[in-house]
Amino acid sequence: MKVWAIVVAAGRGERFGAPKQFLELAGRRVVDRAVDAVAAADGIVVALPDEVSWDGPEVAATVVGGATRSESVRAGLEACPADAGILVVHDAARALAPPRLFDRVVAAVVAGADGAVPGVVLSDTVKRVAGGVVTETLDRADLVASQTPQAFRAPVLRAAHAPEPGATDDAALVEAAGGTIMVVQGDPVNMKLTTESDLAVAGALLRLR
Ligand code: CTP
Ligand code: MG
Repeated sequence: MKVWAIVVAAGRGERFGAPKQFLELAGRRVVDRAVDAVAAADGIVVALPDEVSWDGPEVAATVVGGATRSESVRAGLEACPADAGILVVHDAARALAPPRLFDRVVAAVVAGADGAVPGVVLSDTVKRVAGGVVTETLDRADLVASQTPQAFRAPVLRAAHAPEPGATDDAALVEAAGGTIMVVQGDPVNMKLTTESDLAVAGALLRLR
């Protein structure tokens, strides 16, 4: 079964203050590191901002992303061939994803899941808040933080995106459509660069590797 990967790199990085995916991290751009993390795919599609031309590692295609992450994924879907049976979506902002996460999520889909995500246990207690007041404390024991890369049966991911919904991750769309998402072991090192201080933390983690 052919496996294609979409790396979404079309965000503006508003919380960071710059399109963080194009910054250098220990001598290699964040987006290039994210592409490396899915290099085992049969083809890779990168979704880019309109004004950016690709000068990273060789990939099968680049597309212009959209105004939201989900729109950028949909732009990527259009460039993936019909014979790709498994589609993997990865955030360009996750430069530190170890390649074994790609193997794990793909293996879970090969084994029968509609989709698979890397999950990591939470160390903080999570509370629901409304207007600055706690309304609920969630049981940490049955919560995980979901990372990318995420893998899906291609028809399931395409169907979940067909009504043009929005979500911060693709698994949420497949869940809402009734699909079964398996959680595989994620990696706490696989942080998403979100704010400026994350860049220094990611650099330190890379030096420790
Ligand atoms: N992304 C994208 N297209 C968008 C929005 C996000 O391809 N319209 C990508 C980002 O480039 C990133 C990933 O989705 O690799 C995860 O998104 P996030 O960390 O939220 O990045 P940004 O949307 O760029 O940041 P912010 O939300 O702070 O603006
Ligand atoms: Mg965003």
